[in-house]
Amino acid sequence: MLTPLSAETIALVQATVPALAAHGQVITRTMYRRLFVREDIRALFNQANQGDGGAQVHALAAAILAYAQNIDNLGALTPVVERVAHKHVGFHILPEHYPFVADALLGAIAEVLGDAATPEIIKAWGEAYWFLAEILKGRETAIRGQLLQLEGGWTGWRAFAVADKVRESSVITSFVLRPVDGKPVLRHRPGQYLTLRFGPAGAPAMKRNYSISCAPNGDHYRISVKREAHGNGGSRFLHDQIRVGDVIEATPPAGEFFLPDVPQRPVVLLSGGVGLTPMISMLETIAADHPGLEAHYIHGTLNSATHAMHGHVRSLAKRHGRTTIATFYSDPQLGDAPNATHDVTGYITADWLRANAPIDAADIYLCGPKPFLRGLIGDLARVGVPPDRIHFELFGPTSESLAA
Ligand SMILES: Cc1cc2nc3c(=O)[nH]c(=O)nc-3n(C[C@H](O)[C@H](O)[C@H](O)COP(=O)(O)OP(=O)(O)OC[C@H]3O[C@@H](n4cnc5c(N)ncnc54)[C@H](O)[C@@H]3O)c2cc1C
Ligand code: HEM
Repeated sequence: MLTPLSAETIALVQATVPALAAHGQVITRTMYRRLFVREDIRALFNQANQGDGGAQVHALAAAILAYAQNIDNLGALTPVVERVAHKHVGFHILPEHYPFVADALLGAIAEVLGDAATPEIIKAWGEAYWFLAEILKGRETAIRGQLLQLEGGWTGWRAFAVADKVRESSVITSFVLRPVDGKPVLRHRPGQYLTLRFGPAGAPAMKRNYSISCAPNGDHYRISVKREAHGNGGSRFLHDQIRVGDVIEATPPAGEFFLPDVPQRPVVLLSGGVGLTPMISMLETIAADHPGLEAHYIHGTLNSATHAMHGHVRSLAKRHGRTTIATFYSDPQLGDAPNATHDVTGYITADWLRANAPIDAADIYLCGPKPFLRGLIGDLARVGVPPDRIHFELFGPTSESLAA
């Protein structure tokens, strides 16, 4: 049982919110500089998200501010705690790692605020950090415990061989992953992601999250990866270097974006681009396990060249019988034609959804690039869909959430 924070600690933390808002990014950067003095701690992170423009810098700064702002109403943080705890389990963050962040964070606050960081303020922040840290550690330990109880479950990094590599479109390739130990794998919840560790020999390993793009089966996972031309090269490495038979490592499926075991309402699945991956896992599961469920899948992509897994989705819908599908192309290429290659030219809109899907009665699952999510979630809220029926996955750190 956690001892509640004292009124004095809460007041001192709240008093630092304006200063943190002004210095949040600098404090976080200073914190990472201090934290990454230790190579073993640095190696825990996804290096692509660090650095001056790194999204993780924003994610942690945003988390700290949200925490300080809500310190007298910690219930508001529950969804954030759940997401962060799953992310930490995916990156194999353990209780013994927490003191390093405490030292780095408090040192950074002291360094950046200078004289304004009185011993009382540092003490209050220490108490507040450990209060949050205990909540996260507790949840992460519980998640790891559950993972070990389930058939095929494991914790930490496990070796997987690439059993198949399939080109799905001009930009997306799938990889089927089978455990090298030949034992069963945990049946993930449809929508969850893996954290993978891979990279060229002799270089620091890359760590990336990939949503599982097949239904749970106890035997293997499939991921489907878009090749990104820019950035730090994780997706390029997978596309260009990884061959059938190569071995990469994965932590167990994680994430709190998934189709429930017993869906209570019709479902509307909306994806943009490579955001289709968790939806394919859900569609396969719906076809196999939920014959009575009404499902609607609406997917947006550029054109037929980038359109992945269309034949597979069509056959799943046919097999299920209660799944409708619609496809939007925003940039049709020569030969693409509505009612032939796709259904609608343009972007998915709330007006179209209102006319063609039961958005007032359904649970709505979205995954896609930030502008896709920001636009559709805002539109769905405006047409009156309650927030608790809108579920989304973002393919990056939550950073400044979808607001900015
Ligand atoms: C929960 C979750 C699930 C995910 N599921 C999937 C999935 O199913 N399939 C999938 O393909 N991806 C998925 N991702 C994204 C994936 O983890 C990687 O982020 C993605 O593969 C890109 O990695 P990268 O190393 O190639 O590029 P990164 O270095 O991570 O860069 C990503 C993008 O950032 C931009 N960028 C970064 N640096 C620069 C720069 N210097 N200049 C210009 N632009 C830049 C580029 O647009 C680039 O394409 C998921 C992410 C999360 C968090
Ligand atoms: C109270 C303490 C902590 C808070 C508030 C916190 C907060 C966060 C947040 C907000 C994210 C982003 C989640 C998302 O993608 O949505 C995150 C991810 C992460 N955290 Fe923490 N964290 C804490 C402690 C730690 C510790 C102790 C470590 C390890 C030393 C750690 C390592 C990581 C890693 C590796 C990621 C994933 C980074 C990525 O996606 O690149 N965190 N954390």
